[in-house]
Amino acid sequence: MTTPRATQRVPAKPAAGYPTIRGWGMYVPERVMTNHELEKLIDTSDEWITARTGIKERRIAGPDDTTSSMAIEASRRALERAELMPEDIDLVIVGTATPDFLFPATACLVQDALGISGGAFDLEAGCTSFMYALSVASAMVQSSMRNVLVVGSEVLSRILDWSDRSTCVLFGDGAGAVVVSEGEHARFAPQYLLGSDGSGGPALCVPAGGSRMPASEETVRQRMHFVKMAGPEVFRFATRVVADASRQVLARAELSVADIDLFIPHQANTRIIDSAVRRLGVPTDRVFINIDRYGNTSSASIPIAMCEADEQGRLHPGDTVVMVGFGAGLTWGAGAVQWAAHLLPERKPELVASAVGS
Ligand code: ACO
Repeated sequence: MTTPRATQRVPAKPAAGYPTIRGWGMYVPERVMTNHELEKLIDTSDEWITARTGIKERRIAGPDDTTSSMAIEASRRALERAELMPEDIDLVIVGTATPDFLFPATACLVQDALGISGGAFDLEAGCTSFMYALSVASAMVQSSMRNVLVVGSEVLSRILDWSDRSTCVLFGDGAGAVVVSEGEHARFAPQYLLGSDGSGGPALCVPAGGSRMPASEETVRQRMHFVKMAGPEVFRFATRVVADASRQVLARAELSVADIDLFIPHQANTRIIDSAVRRLGVPTDRVFINIDRYGNTSSASIPIAMCEADEQGRLHPGDTVVMVGFGAGLTWGAGAVQWAAHLLPERKPELVASAVGS
């Protein structure tokens, strides 16, 4: 056990600028599992998986990879990119549906490993966890905190039923992290929209292992610790909410679809993305897709996509980025932000004027 740390430092006055994503990092396990490999395990085919989902391969955690170990590595990279030290972080939020333990929170493991002296908690909203966490971080920075580390990390391969072809082909493992900080030069305040429809909970769940149905020989025998999903039901829900939530968050930011420089949807299925993109009317060259290489990494999918979009030169400081996630709950969450606005030159007077609506 380490020495108790000082309580977190909260600045006396609220942040002056809009919250901005200041650093980003990702980590995926080395092990690649292709569709062809799955053909040898279950009754499926590369053709079926590719046509129905867009997935060609996914990463699978090795024996030493855990949700916390991947979160720690992604966070290290995000801190480095942000040029911040662990002591600059006031809060760690880990969005995950596959925490290392029921408790302690995975965020506490990340906080301790990195030597952060702030608070730490996990946030669980299925695959939407990262978007929920990002919106909380943004609000915390806007109200009182300096820098908040937000992580999406998942080892879904350990809660998949590898004999169920309707789910095991869809998911992969990985982690992405961002640092949210006070930014000075943004044109508009980041906007978030969160939603939930708990009546759809049974469509996507892990029935046992919680306090309602603790682990027993019977729950193990019935394979109730694995993901159960009513695929077509989740599909219909997702195609509806992705476009609707994106439109609503754009309206909150007083932006239109034409203002989107990059659209980053949760990577669950290319058919869901295609349908949402058609409904929304965003040009396909402004949509980021990497599901072919990672599958659905749940709460890690959006931050991993962000990192790769930046690496590929598809994100520039000041770009308007719309992200949208959806998943178990059922939940959804969308955000409209200005990418790395802290890297922009001083705000020009006409931009300041338009930001205050004059
Ligand atoms: N390989 C071959 N055949 C398969 C496979 C497979 N891996 N999986 C299912 N099939 C078969 C089914 O058995 C069925 O056969 P049948 O007609 O003989 O009964 C047929 O394919 C069609 O099955 P559907 O489930 O109707 O296929 P669908 O076109 O709906 O695609 C899919 C299934 C890909 C799961 C789709 O419904 C989907 O993507 N849903 C959304 C899932 C999702 O995004 N989940 C993540 C949410 S985020 C989170 O929080 C985790």
